[in-house]
Amino acid sequence: MKLKIRSPANIAFIKYWGQKDGCLILPMNDSFSMNLSNCFSTVEIETQNDFNTKQLYIKKYQSDNYEVADQTSLKKVIDYYQVAKKFLKTNQDFGFIIKSANSFPKKAGIASSASFFSALAMLYSRLFEKELNQKELSILARLSGSGSACRSIPDGFSWWKKGRDSSSSYAVSIAPPSYWDLNDLVLILNSGEKKVSSQEGHQKAKTSGLYKERLRGLKKRLVDIKKAFEKKDFTWFGYLIEEEAISMHSVMMTQKPPLYFWSERTIDIIKKIIGGRSQGLEMYFTIDAGENIHLICQGKNKEKIYQYFSKEKNILNIISNQAAIGTRDYE
Ligand code: PMV
Repeated sequence: MKLKIRSPANIAFIKYWGQKDGCLILPMNDSFSMNLSNCFSTVEIETQNDFNTKQLYIKKYQSDNYEVADQTSLKKVIDYYQVAKKFLKTNQDFGFIIKSANSFPKKAGIASSASFFSALAMLYSRLFEKELNQKELSILARLSGSGSACRSIPDGFSWWKKGRDSSSSYAVSIAPPSYWDLNDLVLILNSGEKKVSSQEGHQKAKTSGLYKERLRGLKKRLVDIKKAFEKKDFTWFGYLIEEEAISMHSVMMTQKPPLYFWSERTIDIIKKIIGGRSQGLEMYFTIDAGENIHLICQGKNKEKIYQYFSKEKNILNIISNQAAIGTRDYE
């Protein structure tokens, strides 16, 4: 049997940081994201006659060849296979070879684990021939350990309801990709891989003295962002996502041990974004667990903004994204 799935990364406008339950991957707060049209993983699985064969190959960003994955990544895939079997209530077993290719740098704050594990959730459900609805698939993706994978399953703009327990914590689409012409220009400042996994980071969020304050502030920010989104008020939306990114990174920087993802290049580009705004180029930033910047703008301004950054020496590459559909069979 051979199956192939394509799934997008997503950029969170309201972030998931910190967990109520680290085993069930239950978040402390709701989060909200957009699927990215040009940052995706294409993952295929081929079953093998020997049940003991469990292999993973990864084709890195801009590479032509698949390479054997490291043991840590393979272990995550095998552990998740066991989690999926439990969730799908099956004792069947398969030998398999998984091949994953990314259209963007992995582990650089562009949610490569979200695109990979959401694809894997669908692959595992297909492998065991279990028909899951979107809610169940989103729950299964969340259980991969990369909770934000649950937001890549539905189309367009996803809202992950934190829920009370495992069956009520999943993502739904609140608007299709065509709803709003938002663009995410991912400014690649460094395509190297980060050293600390998000999973380790989530567990330490509560050690930050700013975390309670963040959760308090989120109550209003979640209401506000929904209103700004409904009204398509880009200015309001933009200031909210910047405040949100700074709030999450302030917690990261003050947790113990601290996590500093920003570099001097990140700060330099933030200043240029703010500078560009004062010249009439409306754009805002958000940043994930990495040094790279997600520049959010409206389609009508994209070309001018591209020009504005075209000679910027610190930017290695720009990946331009619109809102995209969620996890699907590869065609
Ligand atoms: O889903 P995880 O465990 O990879 O954590 C994602 C955390 C952030 O990317 C920093 C924020 C988010 O909501 O995407």
